[in-house]
Amino acid sequence: PVQALSPLLKLHQEAADFYHRVLITTKAGERGMQYARQRDLSDEILDHFKIGYAPKQDNLLLTYLRGKDYSDDDLAKSGLFVQSQDGRLFDRFRDRLMFPLGDESGRVIGFSGRRISEDKTEAKYMNSPETEIFTKSKALFHFAEAKKAARTEGHLVLYEGYMDVISAYKAGVHSGIASMGTSLTDQQVYMLKRISRNIIINYDGDDPGVHAEERATNLFEKAGGFNLGIVVLPEKLDPDEYIKKYGAEKYLDEIRGALSPTDFLLQRLAQKYNLKNDRDRITYLNEAVKEIARLINPVEQDLYLDKLAKQQGVSKDSLKVNLMRERRRQN
Ligand code: CTP
Ligand code: MN
Ligand code: MN
Ligand code: MN
Ligand code: MN
Repeated sequence: PVQALSPLLKLHQEAADFYHRVLITTKAGERGMQYARQRDLSDEILDHFKIGYAPKQDNLLLTYLRGKDYSDDDLAKSGLFVQSQDGRLFDRFRDRLMFPLGDESGRVIGFSGRRISEDKTEAKYMNSPETEIFTKSKALFHFAEAKKAARTEGHLVLYEGYMDVISAYKAGVHSGIASMGTSLTDQQVYMLKRISRNIIINYDGDDPGVHAEERATNLFEKAGGFNLGIVVLPEKLDPDEYIKKYGAEKYLDEIRGALSPTDFLLQRLAQKYNLKNDRDRITYLNEAVKEIARLINPVEQDLYLDKLAKQQGVSKDSLKVNLMRERRRQN
């Protein structure tokens, strides 16, 4: 019931304000601020994303919220604390840059904290556990803001990470959201569908990222009704790194040049073969035609057959014969 949730929502709002204030105005927050600057986060950006800092010192959030008269029961249910064997509470997030995670209307429902220390034995990001108000498989970073921006930009851009959304925002893409990693869920696809049918997927350019783009493309196509674009960044860069290296203008070109699902698929397929070898090339052509045969729209089929023929220096007529055979086989 919605009513019962409200103390947890209020608690999260106060925690977000607390972390943000610690970062911006306190001595305890200087460490966080130093890291924020290292990552090129301006005051304006820290404000827009309500980024904060969970201090190193024990239990500052706990002390603060107790002063606000939250019961230990509410505190325990919030997920912002860990509980010892004997039931005592401790701040869960320490010495981390804090990204508040919002729901569809922008209310804070959880957090993700970026490790600041060099200690690689600690997880790079630590997230809120599942609570009454937070479900990781439904969480999308920057969802409420992106929803508004999608109306003017005409699309949504899907990223893996918070820093990617933020750098893209600085580069002018305000409709960025992050699936918080590479494992997009059906629930998230469903949530996105209500906001925009035009989705550009821009995961990291490394192998896991591109692989996840393939998986995401399949999820969207299974759901149906989307118009997809897929961006594969060079040099295994993630969007944040790409923008820092090449600048906003070049990045916006990458977005404008997003591949159609078929182009993306054919490109991925081509990488599996040594196209200088005739036998490999023939296998590739056969597999590629199979993919093209799956397209429902004959105009699209024609377009990709044409492209494939030109690219591989074979006649479109012969590809078409194969396509017809495939279609009969698939039906
Ligand atoms: N992630 C996570 N837990 C981890 C690692 C990653 O939840 N231990 C999620 C985070 O949402 C992160 C996203 O997966 O933003 C993408 O991971 P990765 O590409 O490894 O991190 P970056 O976003 O590039 O983080 P940074 O630039 O801060 O290194
Ligand atoms: Mn905005
Ligand atoms: Mn990644
Ligand atoms: Mn990344
Ligand atoms: Mn990164």
